[in-house]
Amino acid sequence: MTRVRKCVFPVAGMGSRFLPATKASPKEMMPIVDKPLIQYAVEEAVAAGITDMIFITGRNKRAIEDHFDMAYGVEAELAARGKKELLELVRGIIPKHINCIYIRQAEALGLGHAVLCAEPVVNREPFAVILADDLIDGEPPVARQMVEVYEQYRCSVLGVEEVPREHTRQYGIVKTDGGEPGVVSAIVEKPQPENAPSTLAVVGRYILKPRIFHHLAKVQAGAGGEIQLTDGIAALLEEEKVLAYRFKGKRYDCGSKLGYLQAMVEYGKKHPETGAAFTAYLKSL
Ligand code: UTP
Repeated sequence: MTRVRKCVFPVAGMGSRFLPATKASPKEMMPIVDKPLIQYAVEEAVAAGITDMIFITGRNKRAIEDHFDMAYGVEAELAARGKKELLELVRGIIPKHINCIYIRQAEALGLGHAVLCAEPVVNREPFAVILADDLIDGEPPVARQMVEVYEQYRCSVLGVEEVPREHTRQYGIVKTDGGEPGVVSAIVEKPQPENAPSTLAVVGRYILKPRIFHHLAKVQAGAGGEIQLTDGIAALLEEEKVLAYRFKGKRYDCGSKLGYLQAMVEYGKKHPETGAAFTAYLKSL
């Protein structure tokens, strides 16, 4: 049985909703308290037993590569100043057994295209996709929950959650047979509320079988001139079983300002160093 060993992190989007913050650095480097979104995502993948992290980067890739690389200058400086704890923190960003692989998406042609860029490295294995701007606080971490579902059913798994009907136009929406996990019979990209087949939205967690690449290679640019992952999944489910799994956890849409602020407040309240003082501050407002 092939284990899920690889995870794709598409980080080449424009991040236009966060301009000017995303002008020179990817939105996935924006911090929630003291860690960038992409580090939360990688930690989630590590917790799921994944060892190969494949980043699909764009024009501002440097910051992400540097974040997961050795930083001799910073380490030497911290060592010289005797800051042992901070040194451990910086050194421990990524465990030693993890491989980081970077692939450049020359043009931001859409999420489906970004995933297709990973094909030469993923090859013929099942793999995870994590969108770091969907930060999910789950126990066990959601990628782990989904790998467990994959191991039980051996087919592609989409992370889904209920959204208010007026929000369906922001998501891929699935129709299922109602099971838990449900078998997906249709998936529609950003439907208007009146046309949505349900209110079950696909969010930024996927386990995909490698057959998806075959379909993505054939997908024509759709809504907004982008190659949509949803269209690839729609073709895949004509051939293979695809499951929709309602994960256990709370999601923050950190690609939007409101979701980002909500995450900052919630993680700030729980932070071991500043949580108590921050909670007291919020109460005082
Ligand atoms: P979004 O739909 O959130 O787009 O992409 P975006 O460009 O990042 O942000 P906005 O809408 O302009 O504010 C979903 C995910 O897919 C990645 C993004 O980095 C994000 O993680 N993506 C999107 C790519 O890697 N490449 C693309 O061509 C498009």
